Amino acid sequence: MTDKAADTPAVVVPSGIRKGLTNYGDTGFSLFLRKAFIKGAGYTDEALDRTIVGIANTGSGYNPCHGNAPQLIDAVKRGVMMAGGLAIDFPTISIAESFSTPTSMYLRNLMSMDTEEMIRAQPMDAVVLIGGCDKTVPAQLMGAASANIPTVQLITGSMLTGGHRGVRVGACTDCRRYWGQFRGQEIDEQEINEVNSKLVASVGTCSVMGTASTMACIGEALGIVMPGGASPPAVTSDRIRIAELTGKQAVAMARSGLTPDKILTAKAFENALRVLLAIGGSTNGIVHLTAIAGRMGLDIDLEAFDRMSRETPVLVDLKPSGQHYMEDLHMAGGMQTVLRELRPLLHLDALTVTGRTLGEELDDVAAFPQNVVRSIADPIYPVGGIAFLRGNLAPEGAIIKQSAADATLMEHAGRAVVFENSEDMALRIDDPELDVNADDILVLKNIGPVGAPGMPEAGYLPIPKKLARAGVKDMVRISDGRMSGTAAGTIVLHVTPEAALGGPLALVRNGDRIRLSVAERSIELQVPAEELQRRRDELVLPRPQGAERGYRKLFFEQITQADKGCDFEFLRPPTMQGRVPRDG
Ligand code: FES
Ligand code: MG
Repeated sequence: MTDKAADTPAVVVPSGIRKGLTNYGDTGFSLFLRKAFIKGAGYTDEALDRTIVGIANTGSGYNPCHGNAPQLIDAVKRGVMMAGGLAIDFPTISIAESFSTPTSMYLRNLMSMDTEEMIRAQPMDAVVLIGGCDKTVPAQLMGAASANIPTVQLITGSMLTGGHRGVRVGACTDCRRYWGQFRGQEIDEQEINEVNSKLVASVGTCSVMGTASTMACIGEALGIVMPGGASPPAVTSDRIRIAELTGKQAVAMARSGLTPDKILTAKAFENALRVLLAIGGSTNGIVHLTAIAGRMGLDIDLEAFDRMSRETPVLVDLKPSGQHYMEDLHMAGGMQTVLRELRPLLHLDALTVTGRTLGEELDDVAAFPQNVVRSIADPIYPVGGIAFLRGNLAPEGAIIKQSAADATLMEHAGRAVVFENSEDMALRIDDPELDVNADDILVLKNIGPVGAPGMPEAGYLPIPKKLARAGVKDMVRISDGRMSGTAAGTIVLHVTPEAALGGPLALVRNGDRIRLSVAERSIELQVPAEELQRRRDELVLPRPQGAERGYRKLFFEQITQADKGCDFEFLRPPTMQGRVPRDG
């Protein structure tokens, strides 16, 4: 992919309200009608003559992660006005993790289509996308990459941390920790109910390095979020100031014609992959980055990503890999501190929304003592957070978040304890009669993109109650699903191809031996090939439920596997143009 910045025209005349006229016969009448209607909202001709910045409003009563959307919209509008433009906000769907059945991932591509088509359909010279909760930022960037008008991503920002009986807590690594303690009978019902009101202390996104924070940081690394825009918590004045600056910058981008194809280049994706590794980011980040890159015609090469992982240390000391929270990262200088430390590993000539390069932006960043972002010489984990695995159990790959895994389990062989699907697991996992030991490997099938559907975050299998009560904290767990970025453990995810499509995972039976070696990057099912073939001949694949009509039908027809970002096949460009990282 070539860097097109050089042929960017210096000044573009934004077409404002005239853009993409709806056809009502002659052009003059079409514009006349459009203006007549929007004047119903009280606009003057002078206002309508300006550069227009659309603002994708994803505020929703169901989405407290976006609970500050009204304040952000006000501030973006102020910034747009200061720069001489006119801001018009419009709704798109909003996806909150815990209010999206069967899973938010099932809806991500729908949100990307909504975003892309509303950007296209309505007159706007630039767009500000307000996103925060896990699937919203990737959905918006996928849509914006395809629509390709000047775009700035505005992050809603993280929630504040809370306090429970003198201990600082935040969603949702601590949600899992307390629930694990409750299952292990270390805390009682009164305490679990009490902490439930403390985990989410304000509006905003999860306060650890979960998927939402990961995507915010990746957005800044890609150059599509304003410098300094990833880390300010949702309720801070810094967050509101970033919103104002975002609005101002969107007008400048409309005038200079700075479109996503000039920002979301192969170099930018390499920078983002580095950052994903260095922040100990969510495993979901790799699926989303693959999907966004795919919209730009770029394939992510996971083998090359793994080589990158061997030389990119984890620098950011945030839960679940480390100990701090997003507000601490913000006080430590946020992504600008991270990017400054990572500087030797980054493409500094990648362009950002400011029209300046990443290197130029970093030149202005001051260093100061802090204890959240380490240096490359003194990392919190010596190699990247995520490792890419292959083997006869995952011919197209699988991943493990090694920075959040138990070091003693990363080279491990054990007996498989198999659950056919989520329902089967829910029924049996806590059965006192379940034949399971701490050395066994828990296997969950049919939670992949097609299997569940939507690849839910059910890959974080609970430790069977009887083992949890005996003090077992981690076991090797394997599935074709995802896990929340806020979770930790020795957990192999995204096994591809998935069980529901007849991937080898479908052939695993109770008592089989499985060997995991993170050092060798391998995941092997130690069953003779003839026996596997015999099982394959007998295999009956589950039939997708409710796939006769509507979005669900489209979903089953079009969904791709994790190695293609779980995008819909028809949303990817017809020809792919390159691979990232480019040395792959
Ligand atoms: Fe929205 Fe975690 S639930 S960011
Ligand atoms: Mg999450």
